[in-house]
Amino acid sequence: MLLLANSEAYPGFETSIDLLKKGEHGLDAMVAGIAHVERDVRVRSVGFGGWPNMLGRMEFDAGVMDGSTREVGSVGAVPDTLPVAALARKVMQTLPHVMLTGDGARRFATETGFSIDETLYEDSKRVWWERLEKELGPEGIKQFPDVPLAPLSKTITDPERVRDTTVFLCSDARQGIHTATSTSGWAWKYPGRLGDSPIPGAGFYADSRYGAAACTHTGEMTMRCSTARTVVLALKLGYSLGDAIKLAVEELAELTEGFLAGVVIHAIDAKGNHEVVNFRCPGDIAYWYWDETMSAPEKRAAKTV
Ligand code: GLY
Repeated sequence: MLLLANSEAYPGFETSIDLLKKGEHGLDAMVAGIAHVERDVRVRSVGFGGWPNMLGRMEFDAGVMDGSTREVGSVGAVPDTLPVAALARKVMQTLPHVMLTGDGARRFATETGFSIDETLYEDSKRVWWERLEKELGPEGIKQFPDVPLAPLSKTITDPERVRDTTVFLCSDARQGIHTATSTSGWAWKYPGRLGDSPIPGAGFYADSRYGAAACTHTGEMTMRCSTARTVVLALKLGYSLGDAIKLAVEELAELTEGFLAGVVIHAIDAKGNHEVVNFRCPGDIAYWYWDETMSAPEKRAAKTV
């Protein structure tokens, strides 16, 4: 058994370990851990602690993949709902679909017993409004929200506000390799924008025969390169874990146009190896790791390429 997650995972990482040790299905263990991350205001890129879109509304994305069946559930741009990784799991378990978005996802949440949650943290609302006032100026702000939003999308791509996600990957006691993601997406994103966290193949992918990968940071890059799928397909083709990630990084490095602010790839293979690689994200990137030989999880530094 092993569990790998990005640095934002700390409020729920031990919950997932405890459930894995009890023999729970890896997806249940990870979704339960992610629920703690989604409700923790200290995590400023996921759930209640995240940042709103340009209109000041929270819209959440999440995805889960069962590597043993290759079933996927995902939700995108979901309003008024905090445990969205659990909602993605519910989509996978209940519907013939893979992905729901927006109002349809919220309707499904209500039908399946999810509460309507308060999702906009007071501090996020204050920071969002102050930034909007600065960008629109005194005359523009009087017209808000009846202003064109597209011109704001370049100026409010704020490098100080994260584009992060929480990603969990595990190998469970049932020989299953699975992955789950959750995010509030970019701060100040255009309403309706989906990142890579709900997009199978881009932000996450798992196949119990070979391994799993999940990405954080700029979804606009991994969606163009199918990064998570690239890693797992390379494992299937016989690449080592390091070479599989190298291939995915080479593809990201070929991008020259568009918004290119870096990606962190988290990956595990079916032999029990793991790697976390930072491709051009600023700052030091850390991750959480635990396996059954360890008495406690460790926070470790990602490799930078
Ligand atoms: N990777 C998170 C996002 O692009 O929203």
